[in-house]
Amino acid sequence: MGIYRKTAGAKKMILSIESSCDDSSIAITEIDSKKLLFYRKISQEIEHSHFGGVVPELASRLHAVALPQILEESKEFFPKLKAIAVTNGPGLGVTLMEGVEMAKTISIMLNIPIIAINHLKAHIYSLFIEKEAIFPILVLLISGGHTMIVKVESLNSMQILASTMDDSIGESFDKCAKMMNLGYPGGPEIEKLALMGDENRFNFPIPLSNSPLLAFSLSGLKNAVRVQIEELGGAESLSNQDKCDISASFQKAITSHLLQKSKKILSTQNIKDFAIVGGAAANKSIRNAFSSLCNKYNIKQHFVELKYCSDNAAMVGRIALDYFLDNHTTDYKNISTLVSRKRQNGEL
Ligand code: KG4
Ligand code: ZN
Repeated sequence: MGIYRKTAGAKKMILSIESSCDDSSIAITEIDSKKLLFYRKISQEIEHSHFGGVVPELASRLHAVALPQILEESKEFFPKLKAIAVTNGPGLGVTLMEGVEMAKTISIMLNIPIIAINHLKAHIYSLFIEKEAIFPILVLLISGGHTMIVKVESLNSMQILASTMDDSIGESFDKCAKMMNLGYPGGPEIEKLALMGDENRFNFPIPLSNSPLLAFSLSGLKNAVRVQIEELGGAESLSNQDKCDISASFQKAITSHLLQKSKKILSTQNIKDFAIVGGAAANKSIRNAFSSLCNKYNIKQHFVELKYCSDNAAMVGRIALDYFLDNHTTDYKNISTLVSRKRQNGEL
């Protein structure tokens, strides 16, 4: 649970809502100064950890409780609101709906427009919370649902240069953690155990290392981890040190995969700014590996604050204010969670 509040003396503001997966979050951003005046998030990790992953129906019900509770806390800002921003995809249909229906209600109540936000673009804008945007920039997006490298030239020009052919980075951390009976979300658990592990004990394959493809693939690596666990007698037979060593070796292979493909792209693009965003961007081992790569290529690496790596409404509010200034608002009747299949599959 995170809370952050500044006093309400400012003029024009945007209220933003995020409910694409298992985080209920609302933020208030001041339009002229780009300042975050209010930010709160209630995560559902504990509830979903009993099931080893996010249960959409449960997530939706929890949003229905948490979002109104947070909204109540932001009431003092209502008279200053000029627009409502809400994530409308990609994400879980039943959880997106909770945020979108709330946004529509506020829009009708206050007679202000809505700004529909693409969740992936919001992650990219997590870099610019309370800051001016930096363009052009190459962004590695590694979340629970997506893995891609995006060339970001402006608010309206984002091009995917590489993406995953199967699982995402966050998902593969979660699945490997589940194979070892670790908690959910798996990323932080694996990162923690990896610190005490031997990354050279298991020689997991680096995906697509001999392929010229500019793409990511995690399913083979995941399978190699599964086979290794079976060879050790199954999850129940693993010692704590086995789990630490598997975590470290797995994290090393993932990091090498990300580095290899990113290096190829960085060397072909004349862009001097780089960043990693998304839930898995919180991983310090991945962050550090990329710092060395960027130093080598004389590229400036930009970091998202750890608290804004995972899903949050502050990033939704930040991109929404650029859309607002670009007159990119709509009527509540034009917004739904029925985004195109391409968009749901991660197209920008
Ligand atoms: O961006 P996010 O909050 O949600 C999506 O948009 O999917 O990302 C959540 C994902 C989860 O799969 C989680 O395991 C992963 O981010 N994650 C991590 C770490 N912290 C969260 N993965 C690796 N290392 C971490 N420290
Ligand atoms: Zn996300």
